[in-house]
Amino acid sequence: MNSESIEELKARIAASGAKKLQDVEEFRVGMLGKKGEITRLFEEFRTVAPEQKREFGQKLNQLKQQAQAKIEELREAVEEEQTATTVDNDLTRPGDDFELGSRHPISLAREEIIGIFRKFGYNVAEGPEIEDDWHVFSALNFPPEHPARDMQDTFFIATDTDDKILLRTHTSSVQVRTMERMKTPPIRVICPGRVFRNEAISARAHCIFHQVEGLYIDRNVTFADLRQAILLFCREMFGPDVRIRMRPSYFPFTEPSSEVDVSCNICHGKGCNICKGTGWLEILGCGMVDPNVLSASGIDPDVYTGFAFGMGIERIAMLKWQVKDLRMYFENDVRFLKEFQTVV
Ligand code: PHE
Repeated sequence: MNSESIEELKARIAASGAKKLQDVEEFRVGMLGKKGEITRLFEEFRTVAPEQKREFGQKLNQLKQQAQAKIEELREAVEEEQTATTVDNDLTRPGDDFELGSRHPISLAREEIIGIFRKFGYNVAEGPEIEDDWHVFSALNFPPEHPARDMQDTFFIATDTDDKILLRTHTSSVQVRTMERMKTPPIRVICPGRVFRNEAISARAHCIFHQVEGLYIDRNVTFADLRQAILLFCREMFGPDVRIRMRPSYFPFTEPSSEVDVSCNICHGKGCNICKGTGWLEILGCGMVDPNVLSASGIDPDVYTGFAFGMGIERIAMLKWQVKDLRMYFENDVRFLKEFQTVV
């Protein structure tokens, strides 16, 4: 027995492979079986000179361990390979799991708002996000010097011409387009869509958000009709016990104008940090369509009257699901979106 034969055996063990379990068994018998090569070396060990026993003994033990480890390794590899191929060939195996996505809370809220107004007989109208000054401002009775036209609030698009092109700041522009198109009332539309304002992004404000605006024009439409429509909408949206309050306000395109608050559905009027202790939450702006707006779109204000209202979808969703930071709607963090998987 000599070191060379041990080294050679080591190399052979390291290089050996197996395709099936039988190969592994043959390898084991060849090395460690009764007549195996390592077994034989252990037998020869008896004849080794006493002063070399220690060194050879160690080497032999290492060799044995190496062989045992190799046998384990080969067996595992063969078994793994076998299960992989049988599983692949098993046509009765169920398919891979896939995760269902969820609808975005803004879509959920929008669909719910639209669904409620559809029941009231409103149709959905849509229009362009890139608009001109006429549809966003002039036709809506904004005087030329009105601050909302200012660069602070509106994203203007640089053009070669004198025509002002901009990202719409509200979906009232779609109401103008609808009036221009339909000319003869009754008109009953809601206009959902994305709007843009030049605001710093924070928990309560964003430069992109979504609105649903509504318009109803017919003979003899009154402020009482407006109030009733808003009240019925709020009851459908927030539950039968919700109360509303209308505060006088100002919009260039409505007269009189009002802002609407709903009773806080979190503290039920007792006062909490969402409603800032007041028990009320502002949800929309509304009013009777200004006669100038009707005229601008070719509708005779002596014959027809109408009301309009507009609300932010983010705000409605915020109140419904108590989302405290607007930015979450835009970040698309899957953990946040998953919370809406069960909302249908
Ligand atoms: N357009 C208004 C806004 O964006 C909302 C509104 C619509 C107010 C219709 C009154 C009537 O804030």
